[in-house]
Amino acid sequence: MKPIHLFVPTFRVDECLAEVRECLERGWTGLGYKTLEFERRWAEHTGLPHAHFLNSATSGLHLAVRVLKERHGWRDGDEIISTPLTFVSSNHAILYERLKPVFADVDEYLCLDPASIESRITAKTRAVLFVGLGGNTGRLDEVVALCRDRSLTLILDAAHMSGTRLRGQHVGLEGEVSVFSFHAVKNLPTADSGMICFGGAEDDAAVRHWTWLGIDKDTFSRTHSQGAYKWHYQVEHVGFKYHGNSIMAGLGLVALKYLEEDNVRRRQIAAWYDEGLAGVAGVERVPMAPDCESARHLYQVLVDKRDEVMVELNAADIFPGVHYRDNSVYAMYAGQPACPNARRASERVISLPMHLQLVRADVDRVCDELRRIVR
Ligand SMILES: Cc1ncc(COP(=O)(O)O)c(C=O)c1O
Repeated sequence: MKPIHLFVPTFRVDECLAEVRECLERGWTGLGYKTLEFERRWAEHTGLPHAHFLNSATSGLHLAVRVLKERHGWRDGDEIISTPLTFVSSNHAILYERLKPVFADVDEYLCLDPASIESRITAKTRAVLFVGLGGNTGRLDEVVALCRDRSLTLILDAAHMSGTRLRGQHVGLEGEVSVFSFHAVKNLPTADSGMICFGGAEDDAAVRHWTWLGIDKDTFSRTHSQGAYKWHYQVEHVGFKYHGNSIMAGLGLVALKYLEEDNVRRRQIAAWYDEGLAGVAGVERVPMAPDCESARHLYQVLVDKRDEVMVELNAADIFPGVHYRDNSVYAMYAGQPACPNARRASERVISLPMHLQLVRADVDRVCDELRRIVR
């Protein structure tokens, strides 16, 4: 049987190679040049006012917390309410800055539940970090309103949300900052990169210094500007080397051209799963929020005895994934308040294969096997 994998990236190889060739021929593979073009095109495409290209979304989440901590004067030990059902990057970003992640529970969309967020607010709460799991917006509107009412900052981990729209508008403007991942298996695949999109121009300017070691002039503008003393740059703080490079940006420019049609295809695959699994006892489909035009990074279901079901699917040459295990099962995040929905999902969730090379027969095979196993 042909194996059916969870994720298989699709690269438009000739177009990607042409972009890489252009960088190599020009002799510029680093920060600047294609990174600037990609930032401009991403901002145009999404309607977001600012975009800065990075080496990963993990770096972006770290810098989101860093820049906001500095601007708002948050102190070590202040709290950010976050989800246990995410990739550890989201929560590590909070710890990198010596803040405290406090887990709230998830709802039926497997995104943060506003009521649970509210129950976790203390005098030390500064922000909410919302993850649009699988491209879903969940109850993001309610979380935005809650943050506004309680004067909390909203950080959107949009790693799965390239192309997700809420009532027609690309996501990313809801909070003070949003961070997208362009890792190889994401909807906009490069090899490893990401984009941080601040709402405010000052934060956007600040983050550009943080991604280049705290240096106030990047190498590209120094190399391509006129005048003497170009080596007289200033170093304002201990920054990081988190910026993206032109090779990754070249791959991103190609992927961006296809993002919308690729997401249409992903939604078609999701519709086939919906059809194949409708009414199947023992397979609970994770719903999409009503106003969400999802990027459909994931198609998730909940089943009993998940680990056994996974093993049986593997035996049938089907290799799904788990997004995610409740982070409080990891030693790092032990001792968090109980999140029963997240724990239940953590033990039951499966991400079914979702990528552009799947055809209807593959989806039917996955559904048939799943039906057979849970019967
Ligand atoms: C929800 C979530 N946040 C953040 C990240 C980190 O993205 P990156 O691999 O670009 O650092 C991921 C990646 O898997 C993710 O799934």
